[in-house]
Amino acid sequence: VAADLGPYRHYMQKEIFEQPRAIADTLEGVAAIVPELFDGHDDQGNTTVSAWRVFDQIDNVLILACGTSYYSGCTAKYWLESIAKIPTQVEIASEYRYRDSVPNPNTLVVTISQSGETADTLAALRHAQGLGMRHTLTICNVATSAMVRECQLAYVTRAGVEIGVASTKAFTTQLAGLYLLAMVLGQMRGHVSADEANVQLNAMRHLPAALQAVLALEPQIITWAEQFASKENALFLGRGRHYPVAQEGALKLKEITYIHAEAYAAGELKHGPLALVTSAMPVVTVAPNDELLEKLKSNMQEVRARGGELYVLADAGTQIESEPGVHVIRMPEHYGKLSPILHVVPLQLLAYHTAVARGTDVDKPRNLAKSVTVE
Ligand code: G6P
Repeated sequence: VAADLGPYRHYMQKEIFEQPRAIADTLEGVAAIVPELFDGHDDQGNTTVSAWRVFDQIDNVLILACGTSYYSGCTAKYWLESIAKIPTQVEIASEYRYRDSVPNPNTLVVTISQSGETADTLAALRHAQGLGMRHTLTICNVATSAMVRECQLAYVTRAGVEIGVASTKAFTTQLAGLYLLAMVLGQMRGHVSADEANVQLNAMRHLPAALQAVLALEPQIITWAEQFASKENALFLGRGRHYPVAQEGALKLKEITYIHAEAYAAGELKHGPLALVTSAMPVVTVAPNDELLEKLKSNMQEVRARGGELYVLADAGTQIESEPGVHVIRMPEHYGKLSPILHVVPLQLLAYHTAVARGTDVDKPRNLAKSVTVE
């Protein structure tokens, strides 16, 4: 077992570092951003359902997932609405399956799952089908899973086997698949030109190199982790498409370090969590150089004014500098709409190294299972 860990101490660390390869594999064979990428296939690999035909009949998207896969769905909502201009809802599978909802036959139901076997997500899919929603797509990491069998359409990510209970490479490859989906629907709906789709595909092809540059920040993250190891609470802030990234960062920290962590949309700080901020509360802030930067900077000011310690992942060009109470790690470049794929990586590393410093069982955290196949 130790042999296949190579230079890594745990599977989670290995899987974090496999992300450039996982994204490259997931994009292999994507010659162009076209609906056929999402076609349904039988066991022999023959096309059974044309994604083009399905996508042509839908006017909204409903994403169903659990855990980390739910947060990739939350990120995708921002992409689907801004790029494809298609109304999108994201729902926790265990909630959706038991609540009264208003079915719409023109909905594309999208399940997201690493394993393809999560009981709640499968049940939510079957619930939607039972309500008459027939257009179904899964973004899934296991080609032979129940999820792929039961959905009309599939995009199979190629993260490879994920062993660490805390999901890492499955998340970023799901995001790659979901970005392609937004681009495909954007083109079909006339909001994305073929040229623009090509530009975006090139940007995606550069992701493995961009991820390498982010992974090289590991020594700086380790210094943060040494400070986090003695904390009992942490707050994560993000805005827009980086709010789900903050949520995923908080989830990672909870899962493997047992530090209580909560994520907030930064603009919501003043409606509650600001009351918790003291010098004992580290506040991790995801600070991409995007249209919300100035808003985010004033949220950071609100934290500083209460003596909170800021740990900021700041893109190049944000002019956020380290000072007493403000710890900045500079992200190598701003990556536009794809930026969530880069910004989550230091948060994975922060959780990982904090767990190592605390001596917890990183790959098998207490009370948690890799795949929850019973309710
Ligand atoms: C469990 C795992 C998580 C995962 C979630 C959903 O809670 O510990 O890492 O995100 O299940 O799993 P899925 O296989 O459906 O993505």
